[in-house]
Amino acid sequence: MIKKVCILFASPRKNGNTKQLVIPFVDELDKAGVSSRLLDLYDMKIEGCHACRTCQNIWDGFGCPIDDDVHIIFNEILESDLFVLATPIYSWFCTMPMKGVIDRLVYGMNKYFGDERGPSLWKGKELAIISTCGYRVEIGMENFADAMKKYCKHSGLKYKGSLAERDMGYNARFMNEEKEIHARDFAREMIK
Ligand SMILES: Cc1cc2nc3c(=O)[nH]c(=O)nc-3n(C[C@H](O)[C@H](O)[C@H](O)COP(=O)(O)O)c2cc1C
Repeated sequence: MIKKVCILFASPRKNGNTKQLVIPFVDELDKAGVSSRLLDLYDMKIEGCHACRTCQNIWDGFGCPIDDDVHIIFNEILESDLFVLATPIYSWFCTMPMKGVIDRLVYGMNKYFGDERGPSLWKGKELAIISTCGYRVEIGMENFADAMKKYCKHSGLKYKGSLAERDMGYNARFMNEEKEIHARDFAREMIK
């Protein structure tokens, strides 16, 4: 049962298309009594993985020597049942800070590459995607969704599904009643 949701939000446009989907999604969680926390990755200090592999031999925590805000994200995900990657699609993938976070976590959470093979610290948690893109959604977000399905399998996470909506350009209004219904339905589906 989903009691707590962590949303990693990664658009540089704070009130852009992706946020407009996230708002009704969060509202629906609130109505269902599910607590959620949104972390805006563009407001956080996030470096890419240095590939030092220090984390691989530290099995009781993140073990990453980089002193930045990914430690907050690591802890928040461990306290959540479901975490949501909310990102516009940039060059067929997520935006830069989210890529930094998913690289850091795929090592810091999965202790597979040390002297001995260790555990996945986030095994059994659920991952979902909320994204917006300019192409038809099947084309725009298929690479990112495919990668995250593989990421989940590798990590022992459960891939819960995705909500994706198309942006028809900066001169067209993005949000409408249909998209809001999709976002609310998606929230209810995620916490079933
Ligand atoms: C630098 C950049 C790269 C983009 N790359 C893609 C892409 O590869 N595929 C796609 O479908 N849309 C692409 N888009 C369009 C955005 O995904 C789309 O406009 C999205 O809805 C923006 O969301 P936001 O308002 O939350 O930032 C790109 C936009 C930008 C600014």
